[in-house]
Amino acid sequence: MCISLPELPKRKGTMNNQQYLNTAKTAAQAGQRILKKYFRAPLTITVKDEQHYNIVTQADVECEEAIVECLQEVYPDHNILAEEHEYGKTGSPYTWIIDPLDGTTNFAHGIPAYSISIALAFHDDMVAGLVWDIEHNEMYTAVKGSGAWCNDVRLSVSSARTLPQCLFSTGFYYGRGEEMKKALKKIEQLLTLGIIDIRRFGSAALDLCMVASGRIDGYFEYMLNPWDFAAGKLIVEEAGGLVTDCEGENPGISPSYIVGTNGKIHGELLEILQ
Ligand code: IPD
Ligand code: CA
Ligand code: CA
Repeated sequence: MCISLPELPKRKGTMNNQQYLNTAKTAAQAGQRILKKYFRAPLTITVKDEQHYNIVTQADVECEEAIVECLQEVYPDHNILAEEHEYGKTGSPYTWIIDPLDGTTNFAHGIPAYSISIALAFHDDMVAGLVWDIEHNEMYTAVKGSGAWCNDVRLSVSSARTLPQCLFSTGFYYGRGEEMKKALKKIEQLLTLGIIDIRRFGSAALDLCMVASGRIDGYFEYMLNPWDFAAGKLIVEEAGGLVTDCEGENPGISPSYIVGTNGKIHGELLEILQ
């Protein structure tokens, strides 16, 4: 059962998209209660794709169920694209894209760096997005055309214009094949070029929010699923940055190589990462 939250402050943006964000907030609240219950408590861990380092817990699954129940209660016709279950297609142009727990490895180790990520796409474009850093009580939100926010603070990307001014983050695809080798090579290349440093935080959604808030200047990962990047992409763009695939194109709602930056160093970084 979903509990409604108080109205969000009125901000620019179409009324429908603000309402979608309000619904996402209510759904995230239902998911957050589940994650809080399991954080640093005993977990049942199941391995995915026979890789012992690729795991799912009951917190991931129950959180997704709670979020999906809330969204379907309000928008039964919309598609759902979420990490832990397949929901089929409804034929609607709207798709909710959900990562119930981004940063499962951190969560399972008691590391307070994980998030809930919920986005709504109209065809291939995000119109509302929310990423909640639960342990720091930082909720990042964006509605297309009305800016990006962390709680009540408006976000804007950093002003770095050259690579030596940049702090980056990255992540490693569970596949650990060619993508992993390429990422390691590129990290070495970037450090050699004199960037400030590189981080691996462990939640792609939060990495993108850190780009949006200007804490870091860019993030890249050689393979992500749409639930990892959908909400973060809109948040970065609404904060003045750019998120593309390796060709500089919109990744849409398919698995993709992702580069998110403040926009000013995007071209230069893409050239190195290609
Ligand atoms: C993972 C995290 C991680 C990224 C992986 C993702 P999960 O998501 O976002 O930072 O490097 O590629 O799969 O499995 O914790 O939801
Ligand atoms: Ca994820
Ligand atoms: Ca996840």
